[in-house]
Amino acid sequence: MINVSILGYGTIGSGVFDILDKNSHIITKRNGEEIHVKSVLDLRDFKGDPVESVLVHDFSEIENDDEVQIVVETMGGLHPAYDFVKACLEKGKSVCTSNKALVAAFGPELLSIAEKKNCNFLFEASVGGGIPIIRPLKTSLAPDEILEISGILNGTTNYILTEMSEKGSDFETVLKDAQDKGYAEKDPSADIEGYDTCRKIAILTSLAYGRQVGFEDIYTEGITKITERDINYAKKLGAKIKIFGSGKKDGDRISAMVAPKLITQEHPLYSVDGVFNAILVKGNMAGDIMFYGQGAGKHATASAVVSDIMEASKHLGINIKTIWEPEKLGLVPFEESISKFFVRLSGTAQDNSAKAGKAFGSLTPVDAGYSDEFAFITEAMTEGTFRKAAEETGNVINKIRIDA
Ligand code: HSE
Repeated sequence: MINVSILGYGTIGSGVFDILDKNSHIITKRNGEEIHVKSVLDLRDFKGDPVESVLVHDFSEIENDDEVQIVVETMGGLHPAYDFVKACLEKGKSVCTSNKALVAAFGPELLSIAEKKNCNFLFEASVGGGIPIIRPLKTSLAPDEILEISGILNGTTNYILTEMSEKGSDFETVLKDAQDKGYAEKDPSADIEGYDTCRKIAILTSLAYGRQVGFEDIYTEGITKITERDINYAKKLGAKIKIFGSGKKDGDRISAMVAPKLITQEHPLYSVDGVFNAILVKGNMAGDIMFYGQGAGKHATASAVVSDIMEASKHLGINIKTIWEPEKLGLVPFEESISKFFVRLSGTAQDNSAKAGKAFGSLTPVDAGYSDEFAFITEAMTEGTFRKAAEETGNVINKIRIDA
């Protein structure tokens, strides 16, 4: 029998508890050994809940329990999660976490402790909820050089953009509706400003290229500036607007970015709508591979955590090597990143077309029936060139990059 402790009985922690109970038969059969939840740490009491009999309030009871071989961290946040995880790894206990903030900030350090102590630090649930992506990157795609890893990594913003497109509502109305339905947090900034996607793509890019990609080094733009008009232009172009996290090879260098992008029907992620997530990986041998599923939610995310528990239980005393060096990967400077841009300028087409052509070069106008503005698509150019052209015209209302 394998003894597990869970730190934090919130949405994901209670989901893990639930799955280990409801699917115990199939889990034991596939795992070869029964997985038993010996203790659950939470500050709260849960009167009448099945967790009551194993609930503890003091972390040291878990840290010092030599029978506990695997610890699940589903507390969220950096502290005390980091301190608890580190203490468990130092004791040789494997840790499985869903905490992307923890993994993005401390991944290499915690992996290195796990390696020294012959245990494991696993984090399948930290990116893409129930979508298997971390383990496939480490194992199934191990023979490949990763040319690109990009995706729709945030359910809240994908839901908002989908609703704006389908219902024709503005950003604020849809956000309020999403909050009422529980799809967006009361404080939605981590999602709508792109910070959540940023941490997830920092983890994926670090794993794809084997070195630390600092989330603080990734250019991050959220969806708060997307308006009904942008959505209508997208429709006119047969396109959708999606917020992408992406990490890709650019010659000998790696570029990473989080930003809303226009994608057309030919794009593999075009039909990923609502709260769903999808990740596209381009391998130099395997080609394009797409991972699609629920990027959030109690049981979907908890299922990924349980898969890590099973992986850890099959590797007790054996470290599964994960290459994630602590030295930072130098990213292509933002100003040198290349994109095509969809641009809207205030004022009529007559006022703007010559001026826009002079500043941006060759362009293709887009008419969605708004006579008080001039919209167009540029050729591919660097962010630096785009910025200078935008400064020259001085009347950019909005711009959205195009993902080809
Ligand atoms: N707020 C996140 C999302 C939860 O909407 O995808 C999962 O990380």
